[in-house]
Amino acid sequence: MEERKKDHIELAFRSRVGKEERDDRFWYEPLLKAHSTEPWTPFTFLGKTFRVPIWVSSMTGGTRMAHTINHNLARACGEFGMGMGLGSCRVLLDDDRAFPDFDVRGVMGDASPLYANLGIAQMEKFYLQKDFSRVKKLVEKLRADGLIIHVNPMQESLQPEGDRLTVPPIEVIAGAVEKLGCPVIVKEVGQGMGPESLRSLFRLPLEAIEFGAFGGTNFARLELMRTGGRQEELYGPLATVGHDAVEMVETVNRLLDEDPNPSCQQVIISGGIRNYLDGYALISSIRLPAVYGQAGEFLKHARGSYEEIRQYVEWQIRGLQLARDFLVVKK
Ligand SMILES: Cc1cc2nc3c(=O)[nH]c(=O)nc-3n(C[C@H](O)[C@H](O)[C@H](O)COP(=O)(O)O)c2cc1C
Repeated sequence: MEERKKDHIELAFRSRVGKEERDDRFWYEPLLKAHSTEPWTPFTFLGKTFRVPIWVSSMTGGTRMAHTINHNLARACGEFGMGMGLGSCRVLLDDDRAFPDFDVRGVMGDASPLYANLGIAQMEKFYLQKDFSRVKKLVEKLRADGLIIHVNPMQESLQPEGDRLTVPPIEVIAGAVEKLGCPVIVKEVGQGMGPESLRSLFRLPLEAIEFGAFGGTNFARLELMRTGGRQEELYGPLATVGHDAVEMVETVNRLLDEDPNPSCQQVIISGGIRNYLDGYALISSIRLPAVYGQAGEFLKHARGSYEEIRQYVEWQIRGLQLARDFLVVKK
């Protein structure tokens, strides 16, 4: 006790927070609830049961570290009742050597949703060939619940070896949804999407839309950094355009005013979500069933032992519970 009081006196001066640091997204209501030990109420999303509203956003496989990362994350999804998108499974289309890196259903278990992932450029090829059979096989082999299509024309065009699209992505996506016969999710990879793209996606019977919003990991910038030199200088401004998750939530809510019953009814809010408070604020503000997704933040904790990622997820869930008990998002 004596020691704690001494700490308090020493730390009191250093712990002062400035008014500008205040997170004013919430009403703080300290009087109405006790500390609860209640878990998050399980809910159905993507046709499966989530025990917390958290999604692990897609991250590339095919590297040596990918095996550890994917298995750690999938195991955490199984243990805590979260869902997960695999990183691009393109390497598996031609060659099975990397399959064990992506083969996580066994460690995850059947209860949590797992999605395979391919880029729009690959999907365009299958669309033009009028044959999605290799995609179907991939989804089946991974024992995935469906496919995520990532749409990243800006990243591709800033990548020297990047693909060039010849058909508008929305046409390819509509074709894939019709022919694939499995649930489809569409996402960006860190620049988000504007209102017209979102409007066109909500009209399709997609399982969900994932934002991949601006404000976190930025693949357009990353590709420019790889290229360097004049390219980086000249095309740098293109990496600064996009839509952050707050703006995209506002756009979705506006679109719902126009059409309260869109064909797609579920959203994964991702891109630049730093922690449970960002996630809590956003899923409480959107008027559709939603979970929040993180890529970069999970990656920081998934490269080492399982215990490390487990601890991180436990802290996130504890933070979410505190937010639920004492914070109300301002409307
Ligand atoms: C290392 C890494 C690899 C990624 N690879 C993919 C990928 O293969 N397919 C994909 O759809 N998105 C990929 N992403 C993008 C993420 O899914 C996410 O949309 C983006 O990183 C923004 O989220 P964040 O700010 O939480 O990182 C990757 C992200 C990271 C950090």
